[in-house]
Amino acid sequence: MKKNKIALLGGNPIQDSPLKPYNTISSAEIKKANEVLNSGQLSGYIAAPGENFLGGKWTKKLEEDFCRKFEIKHSITLNSATSALHAALIAAGVGEDDEVITSPYTMAASATTAVMCGAKPIFVDIEPDYFCLDVEKVKKAITSKTKVIMAVNIFGQPANLKKLRKIADEKNIILIEDNAQAPGAKFNNLYTGTIGHMGIFSLNRHKTIQTGEGGVIVTNSKCLADRCRLVRNHGEAVIPETSEFNGHEDIIGYNYRLTELQSAIAIPQLKRLDKLNKRRQELASFLFEEISKFNFLKPPKIRNRCTHVYYLFPMKYDSSVLKVSRDKFIEAINAEGFPVANYVRPLMEIPLFKRKFGNTKNLDLQNYPITKNLWEESMIITSICRPPLNITDMKNFVRAIDKVANSANLLRDL
Ligand SMILES: Cc1ncc(COP(=O)(O)O)c(C=O)c1O
Repeated sequence: MKKNKIALLGGNPIQDSPLKPYNTISSAEIKKANEVLNSGQLSGYIAAPGENFLGGKWTKKLEEDFCRKFEIKHSITLNSATSALHAALIAAGVGEDDEVITSPYTMAASATTAVMCGAKPIFVDIEPDYFCLDVEKVKKAITSKTKVIMAVNIFGQPANLKKLRKIADEKNIILIEDNAQAPGAKFNNLYTGTIGHMGIFSLNRHKTIQTGEGGVIVTNSKCLADRCRLVRNHGEAVIPETSEFNGHEDIIGYNYRLTELQSAIAIPQLKRLDKLNKRRQELASFLFEEISKFNFLKPPKIRNRCTHVYYLFPMKYDSSVLKVSRDKFIEAINAEGFPVANYVRPLMEIPLFKRKFGNTKNLDLQNYPITKNLWEESMIITSICRPPLNITDMKNFVRAIDKVANSANLLRDL
């Protein structure tokens, strides 16, 4: 009996030891890191005109590799995706009182970077099945102040990028893809990150490929690329009027530079991206079949002609079936030893925005029924679709769901 008793009520958990951690660092990264350490040149940057304005040899090599991999003309490495979003917004010309249309259902930087430019994030509700910006609602939110649409490819799935790009082009607005969670995903055979005017990637420690911290901007526009390069390395302050950057004089730069050490580590990481994504997709596809058998859970829907790279595996929970609240269900699965959670608090609920912009319609969660429902009732995410976890781990996860569901009557009264 103890065997079937759910862990939340004192039974034995299905997973009684911690799941193996995600670790993509192998001998190739260690060799590269040693090479850089032995050279003594941990950064190649100088904030002055000349070759080193654009970084050292590893940074440049990483940028070439990004261009080749994602079939794009320019790539600019930075020290985080947050820096990359900020630089991309500055490059797009976003400043005081401009508006940036973005999703409320994403990591905070997709909106705070607009505030960093002095602009206002305009939240638009998301699609019920794909959790990305709703195109029709984006159209309605565009005003004369809109400078950028920030499309977030959330959890590893492309936003409705083709339509968003069309709208952006028609309205003379820049489309930036926040592709931090979807490296290697495709929309109509094109890599996400390359469909907008600029796309950003994250190399932070939680991401599919990582270098501890890091970010990359990709673009086909030389003008936008040059502006991003200026933001990265102190901008106009260190570049003479005669340089190739002439014509971009309005740029206040920062120090957003990636080190040689991080760049060198990212090179073998990028080579491994397809293999890592393939493994995530195999595990997700198994889970998809199994989750579909439960009438209280819905696996993620994949947009037509798109691929999903499962940075996270989202599920929609229907509490009316088991008559157990989503949060209690999450607690019970966690107790069985598996990582499931609600996703982030909708961004309009963050006090920062309310303090800065007041209690406006734009910041009232009631006006975002899809986001509200996901946050308050239905979203469950898990990070288990990743190596070194395997099909046995997926089966155990499904067993945990089954076990908790079978004890639903006991959970109701807790
Ligand atoms: C959608 C999204 N955008 C931006 C970021 C910021 O990335 P970074 O930590 O590299 O600044 C993240 C990080 O989690 C993210 O998930």
